[in-house]
Amino acid sequence: MQTTRTTTAVVSGVGSCLPPPVVDNEAVIARGALLTDADWIRGRTGIERRRHAPPGTSTGDLAVGAGRAALASAGGARPDLVLLATSTPDHPCPATAPEVAHRLGLGTVAAFDVSAVCSGFLYALAVATGLVRGGMCATPLVIAAETYTAIVDPSDRTTAPIFGDGAGAVLLRSGVPDEPGAVVATDLGADGSGRAAITIPGGGARHPRHLPPPAPDAHFFHMEGRAVYAHAVRRMTRSSEAVLRRAGWTADSVRAFIGHQANQRILDSVGDRLGIAPAHRFGNIRELGNTAAASIPLVLADPAVQRAPGERCLLTAFGGGFTWASAALTWPGVSPLAEEPDAATPLRTAPSVPPRPL
Ligand code: UT7
Repeated sequence: MQTTRTTTAVVSGVGSCLPPPVVDNEAVIARGALLTDADWIRGRTGIERRRHAPPGTSTGDLAVGAGRAALASAGGARPDLVLLATSTPDHPCPATAPEVAHRLGLGTVAAFDVSAVCSGFLYALAVATGLVRGGMCATPLVIAAETYTAIVDPSDRTTAPIFGDGAGAVLLRSGVPDEPGAVVATDLGADGSGRAAITIPGGGARHPRHLPPPAPDAHFFHMEGRAVYAHAVRRMTRSSEAVLRRAGWTADSVRAFIGHQANQRILDSVGDRLGIAPAHRFGNIRELGNTAAASIPLVLADPAVQRAPGERCLLTAFGGGFTWASAALTWPGVSPLAEEPDAATPLRTAPSVPPRPL
């Protein structure tokens, strides 16, 4: 008797891109003349240093680097779709993904941004998985890239020490749930009543730039940290439980728990609530801070966090919107690669008009 094996998306390449400048807590404090100290930052967040993109390096440059690394890690496979998760696009319009696809030499493949703030990578992974399962694409490239230094006020002590810049990416292909790298289940959710807790108030259609801004600092990123903290713990825990149920996994079968790298205390709390042993929790918040959508793929790509192919891995995130997302993944059987930010000149002019068909 022939059995039909369910198709799903399988990770076939993993890449990362970090801007080289390392900025420790003392340097962040000095840069913004912050009324805080390195011990407060380390003790309340777990962060000791982060990367800052130098002037001239954008989210697109990091995304191209991470995307190129993921393609090389997959042995040079060619994607048929590019999804870019970011809340720091190069421009408010258009999306950054089409230019990234162009700079990766991918011709005219479909490309679009996914805007779900810190949950963005898992949102994009879930969407790409659905498209693979539905047969709409075969090899989507999912990139998450952020340049929070572009939107954070360096003199705001509640955000400046927390955020860093970077990008991670995975290439997917069609496969089956019992092979290494399989996306076994996903869970997505949102609650727009939390909209104001993580926001850039000005510059959008609600407060257009031709009108006076609602506040002098309205173009900067704002976060009500304490409120976000409580929601993040509750939502990541519940979403993790939902995706474990959907995958048919128990929490004690998970060998790698990777939460969005927002705050070490949040990660500890979610891990404790789920009953996942500390030895099975992985992250890099101490070295990279909170890189928003990029934080989970940056852990997947971290050479210090590599696991045995096929081990059960639980990914979960919470972010602005509010949004949250989780994925049950088996650890990929690939070697992650890293690339420098792309230094090629980004597009500045409109392309010439294509020739008319005869
Ligand atoms: O990535 C998207 C999701 N983001 C998150 O999940 C982040 C969630 N939030 C957090 O990680 C934490 O809330 C923060 C790290 C942002 C803040 O830590 P906290 O322990 O929640 O501090 P708090 O906001 O409750 O503030 C405690 C006190 C306040 O003073 P008062 O009101 O008690 O007098 C703050 O003004 O600490 C003060 N504070 C600081 N003090 C020294 C806030 N930031 C600082 C600072 N240095 N950098």
